[in-house]
Amino acid sequence: MQTIRVDTPSAKYDVIAGSDLIQTIAPRIQRAIGKLPRRVFVLTSPPIWALWGEAFCASFAEPPVALFLEPGERFKTLGSVERLSREMLRAGADRGSLLIAFGGGIVGDVGGFLAAIFMRGIPYVQVPTTFLAQVDSSVGGKTGVNLPEGKNMVGSFHQPRAVFADIGVLATLPERELKAGLMESIKAGIIRDRTLVRYMEEHADLVLARDPKALEKVIAASIRMKAGVVAKDERDFGLRMILNLGHTLGHALEQATAYKVLLHGEAVGWGMIAALYLARQRGMISKTQMERLERLIHLYGPLPPLKLRVAKIVAASGADKKNIGGVRRFVLPVGIGDAGVVEDVTAAELEAAASYMLARAAIGIGGASDRSPLPHHPACGSAPGGSRS
Ligand code: GLY
Repeated sequence: MQTIRVDTPSAKYDVIAGSDLIQTIAPRIQRAIGKLPRRVFVLTSPPIWALWGEAFCASFAEPPVALFLEPGERFKTLGSVERLSREMLRAGADRGSLLIAFGGGIVGDVGGFLAAIFMRGIPYVQVPTTFLAQVDSSVGGKTGVNLPEGKNMVGSFHQPRAVFADIGVLATLPERELKAGLMESIKAGIIRDRTLVRYMEEHADLVLARDPKALEKVIAASIRMKAGVVAKDERDFGLRMILNLGHTLGHALEQATAYKVLLHGEAVGWGMIAALYLARQRGMISKTQMERLERLIHLYGPLPPLKLRVAKIVAASGADKKNIGGVRRFVLPVGIGDAGVVEDVTAAELEAAASYMLARAAIGIGGASDRSPLPHHPACGSAPGGSRS
């Protein structure tokens, strides 16, 4: 088990990464926040609750009140937040209540936002259940929901009181989601941690076989990297932007495919390949480094093949949230273990990077063949008590 301290101007808290945490989650939360309040709520998804609800409740003297959010981006809305707020009120929530977000990235983002605005803010704890949520979205306090006009367009910075990344719950995560999440760990290594890059190169077999020690190492290193960055730039005005390596064209790919073809991590994988090409053209990384990092991305593949026109991707990249005042921002690696934000990427460079990425995406190289349909959640029975979404 590893404990990583997150120390931001607005809050300080621990992220615990280790095996079998949820079975003893109540005393763990109590240790992190002090006495458990009278009313504890857990926001989760029906599939996660069906798989892990019993284990989760085992350590509570009085089980928390369960609130449900159906899986899928289309439920990440202000409407869901209103419904959940009303359910909490009807169940007796007050300003001293605690909310636990127990699920993937969507549950974490919606739960965090609900906690940020319910009665002007209540404490919450993150218990992420996907690899991607464990290494990225549960840490750092970004919360929010989508609007029809764009993803995460309404939200807030609200830091959790603690994060518990339980490696045990990853046992039921579909293979494709694990691999997609691992792209964020590759990103962590490229921008800040060359030891992590080396470890992921040398131990891909153990990581992909879900060896608990190997997973713990990769998860803890990824979180440590993010904690260090968030501590220096909690509100995302400077350094924190480097966490978006691969995201400019990654978001463009997601948007151009209507969020129906790629998991977020897969889009980031392709986006990192474009960023590596751009960095190579600018002399920010060597040919050897570029080839080495592309190999690493493909080692944790396959990334799904794509057939898209360059012009469509270039147009979609204009709508990126990182573009402030019309400036197109790109995060590019500087060697292995460092990165910078550039604001002067020309249209010709963008087109060349998109062409390079799409030429590779047309054949979808890397990994063993796994073309399972886009999963939102592990297939399993319905949640006890059914969904109240
Ligand atoms: N996922 C990027 C960030 O938290 O800033």
